[in-house]
Amino acid sequence: MTPLFEDLAGTWEARRSIRGFRPEPIERATLSRLFEAVQHAPSWCNVQPWRVAITEPPVTGELAAALQQAARSGLPHPEVPFPLEYPSPYKERRIACGAALYQAMGIAREDKAARYDAWLRNYALFDAPHLAVVACDRRLGPYAYVDVGVWLGYVLTAAAALGIDTCPMASIAAYPEPLRARLPIADTDVVLFGLVLGHADDQAAANMCRTTRDPATACVSFVQS
Ligand SMILES: Cc1cc2nc3c(=O)[nH]c(=O)nc-3n(C[C@H](O)[C@H](O)[C@H](O)COP(=O)(O)O)c2cc1C
Repeated sequence: MTPLFEDLAGTWEARRSIRGFRPEPIERATLSRLFEAVQHAPSWCNVQPWRVAITEPPVTGELAAALQQAARSGLPHPEVPFPLEYPSPYKERRIACGAALYQAMGIAREDKAARYDAWLRNYALFDAPHLAVVACDRRLGPYAYVDVGVWLGYVLTAAAALGIDTCPMASIAAYPEPLRARLPIADTDVVLFGLVLGHADDQAAANMCRTTRDPATACVSFVQS
């Protein structure tokens, strides 16, 4: 294996979602460097359909306040439907993911109030200094979402390589109105997900969460005959 592969594999293994941030922002020049670099992500016919608005303080905090109010007072209504059910094996993986987070946070499965508070932490943006709201032109159809997913993988990898902590956040797409009221999101775009960026608060219990992966053979098969 090449040194580049070893570096990438190590970066992917070390990266994890962070759900408790320190307040200090990341310099604009560093964020610009990151998002310039990941423009090299490939896309169908090179259409580059990701459309991204990145907040800096104090706008991030203002949006967090508006999102928390929306989440407390209304049902989720994302512009791209969330899954309604998770058949096996996705259900088991989803349950294990939630259990790992609640265990890290010291929340018992039957403690509904604590689970609600943990869910609301999404809308406080985990106290991150930056939120990138990621949208995509709805006229391009679902394959453009694939492009945006490829781009997200680049962003997560590049951020990790730069020592920037992140958490992708579909949850914020459940309440698009506060995002549309404050950010330049075209009527022709759909809000897909958010991505918080900053530096981890090492004291935050949620950051002790570790997820696992099935072996590749659970998802990938080689076909010879
Ligand atoms: C598209 C996408 C949306 C996600 N949305 C959320 C979210 O709203 N809230 C959250 O806490 N984590 C969210 N995550 C993080 C996943 O839960 C996390 O990636 C997964 O459990 C694996 O853990 P790891 O990132 O620490 O390796 C999201 C991840 C992706 C890729």
